[in-house]
Amino acid sequence: MWLTIKEALSSEKLNINVTVKGWVRTFRSNRFIALSDGTTIKTIQCVVDFENFDEFIIKKINTGAAIEVSGNLVESLGKGQTVEVIAEEIKILGEANPEEFPLQPKKHSLEFLREIAHLRPRTNTFGAVLRIRHHLAFAIHKYFNDKGYFYLHAPIITGSDAEGAGEMFKVTTLDLNNPPKNEDGSINYKEDFFGKATNLTVSGQLEAELGALALSKVYTFGPTFRAENSNTSRHLAEFWMIEPEVAFADIFDNMDIAEEFLKYCINYILENCGDDLEFLEQRKIDAEKDLPQDQRSAMPLRETLKFVLENNFERLTYTEAINILKNSKPNKKKKFQYLVNEWGVDLQSEHERFLVEKEFKKPVILYNYPKEIKAFYMRQNDDNKTVAAMDILFPGIGEIVGGSQREERLDVLKQKIADFNIEEEEVWWYLETRKFGTVPHAGFGLGFERLMLFVTGMTNVRDVIPFPRTPKNAEF
Ligand code: 4AD
Ligand code: MG
Repeated sequence: MWLTIKEALSSEKLNINVTVKGWVRTFRSNRFIALSDGTTIKTIQCVVDFENFDEFIIKKINTGAAIEVSGNLVESLGKGQTVEVIAEEIKILGEANPEEFPLQPKKHSLEFLREIAHLRPRTNTFGAVLRIRHHLAFAIHKYFNDKGYFYLHAPIITGSDAEGAGEMFKVTTLDLNNPPKNEDGSINYKEDFFGKATNLTVSGQLEAELGALALSKVYTFGPTFRAENSNTSRHLAEFWMIEPEVAFADIFDNMDIAEEFLKYCINYILENCGDDLEFLEQRKIDAEKDLPQDQRSAMPLRETLKFVLENNFERLTYTEAINILKNSKPNKKKKFQYLVNEWGVDLQSEHERFLVEKEFKKPVILYNYPKEIKAFYMRQNDDNKTVAAMDILFPGIGEIVGGSQREERLDVLKQKIADFNIEEEEVWWYLETRKFGTVPHAGFGLGFERLMLFVTGMTNVRDVIPFPRTPKNAEF
């Protein structure tokens, strides 16, 4: 009977004949194979009595080789495992030359592993990350499904720029060496595939709003693309975003939903990914060993996750945050790279992290931002200075969620569009939802990889997505 390694390790029946298949992690003393098939972080031990096997088979049991082992599943006498397979038959499915296979059993840096992203899923770290990534995506769908939201598939190719920023990848079938031109020398996109200029989407929000104004509660969950040239540990050119949008909701409903949703996801991972979390927790402790005390995590990974579940997120306005930052030690001692002197400045990640990690020591929801530093669609507050925007900031990460109540008043929205120099013809369909049956509504966007950073304790978004897309990097 062929069992996955996860099934074999938890088998209630023992002394049965089983077959397991996987990749050799180690082969110790020509006797003990640690075999992994990725179904669990654990390996199964296969015990080989080499006198029973041809030498040329034994020689091919190298780290990285794919093999099939059949034999008796028995209680293990050795330490570290409960059951093991006494090998009776071994088939070499795919060899791995030890001279060439780069993943020999020793410590590899995350930077090196990024260069072999085609093989890194076979490491413990990336196996754990990829399994958690699956469970987290599943938790997200489960949360929304259970709460009566509908999954809306927003288009990936779009003719609009939702965030009003010029950081988009162009989509075209025009011959770049010889594009059709208008009389004034500009490119004639009327001849392009869609008859207009198109881009990869930066957000599914505008389409999610159309869905919410018909189905009440929807969410999107898809890839989004940003061509900003920011080479940081928090930015990808292709990342996944979850965008719920809810009709008949205001900014405070939005905060409640986001907080409940984030806690649900974190709790789901705690409940369903214990082995992988335990591994990643130890990995983080080891990785931080050589750091000075004040740069190490305050708590082990699982305690950090529980801490977030047990505490309310701190909610404060942008104005309150500015006052705290202005009077903070790093501001007064000029330790911030960007000093906070006046109301209206955009917050940098050093400020966000000060609030979360030093001032409140827990997640923070900042709301009511100056209208000038936020997107056109956010609802104007009565003070005429701020909009009903909210950002959620997480320890170790900074911004994880950005959202707002949306401007539902046609006249105000038209004015905002003009202020932001957006052509009305470009968003006529968006404006029509404010003309026909408009209602207050709100939503937010969660960066999937940023939440992955939080639940796995990894520190670079390149290490929580299978094949990262960053400036000058689209290998694999
Ligand atoms: O704050 P952002 O830009 O908000 C929006 O796009 C809104 N349309 C969302 C909405 O209201 N429906 O992006 C939302 C989140 C950020 O808080 C961050 O977590 C993540 O997306 N994010 C990125 N993650 C990885 N790489 C990037 N380049 C990211 N840019 C944003
Ligand atoms: Mg944002």
